[in-house]
Amino acid sequence: MRQKIPLFQRLLIELQSNCNRECFFCNRTFDTSGKRLDSNGKKIIKQMPTENVLRIMDEAVAMGFKGRVAFHHMSEPFLDNRIIDMAHEARRRGLRPYEHTNGDVLRNNKELCKEAARVFEYIKVGLYDYKNEDELNDEIAFWQDALQGTEVHFSLGGVVFPRTSTPEDERMFRAKHSYENAACIRPLFRMIIHYDGNVALCCEDMTDMFDLGNAFHQPIQDIWYSEKHIGIVKDLQLGLRERYEACKNCPMPELADASWFENKNKLGKKLKSIWKSMNIT
Ligand SMILES: C[S@@+](CC[C@H](N)C(=O)[O-])C[C@H]1O[C@@H](n2cnc3c(N)ncnc32)[C@H](O)[C@@H]1O
Ligand code: SF4
Ligand code: SF4
Repeated sequence: MRQKIPLFQRLLIELQSNCNRECFFCNRTFDTSGKRLDSNGKKIIKQMPTENVLRIMDEAVAMGFKGRVAFHHMSEPFLDNRIIDMAHEARRRGLRPYEHTNGDVLRNNKELCKEAARVFEYIKVGLYDYKNEDELNDEIAFWQDALQGTEVHFSLGGVVFPRTSTPEDERMFRAKHSYENAACIRPLFRMIIHYDGNVALCCEDMTDMFDLGNAFHQPIQDIWYSEKHIGIVKDLQLGLRERYEACKNCPMPELADASWFENKNKLGKKLKSIWKSMNIT
């Protein structure tokens, strides 16, 4: 019998491929594979067709998913003018839309800020340009006012860590190195679907290199519960990073980036129940 894994807790559907920034700490800035930037650094501009976005959400709901959904991966979601409509579509399906943004499209558009605050459960704004604490405080006050009506969180440019594609950079809060034998639970929590339908293993998987499948051509249930995905998830729970090229060299330590958990205190309990359901002790 096929051994199942728990359902994902978050769904990321990348609406489109573009971003207006080139942050020094972001994987996308250094990935010139042709997925989002070509070998000359030129931007790839592509959108996920609307019918596929809607169908993926329908499939997730049919799997029993009722959790949080966002419309970015390594891109800026507010560059796509379908963002508000897609968030409403998520709500109509009983899902809980949230979003991460660099804020550039929203900043001078009060109406869009209001619409976004109405539909997203929370918005995490990247504050990447402040030069001192006063500027940071001004930015926080600006966004709390502009996005009244929803929860506002912040991702600070001064608190960033090395990622798979980012070069060594002393502005980051830890050095870049790999974590041999460290368990990684990230593939279990998010289902990430790139703008072209390809499914990524985790946030470090910029180019869907694990070849898990394509959500335009296969039901997402088949991808999530595929032997291949389950095998990788189990290996990584056990710390077998050496089995996968990307994981072998991955700069993400065990659980250090567990910020997506609603309540970090429940983390141990959650992990234990996951291990139990997967027969891992
Ligand atoms: C890749 S961005 C995409 C959404 C949007 N463009 C933005 O900047 O919020 C998603 C999230 O990843 C965070 N992020 C990207 N690279 C990071 C790093 N090296 N350290 C910490 N957070 C990072 C961003 O701050 C943002 O909150
Ligand atoms: S962190 Fe966001 S804004 Fe910065 S380059 Fe990455 S996707 Fe773009
Ligand atoms: S070890 Fe790194 S590349 Fe592998 S699943 Fe975890 S975060 Fe992704």
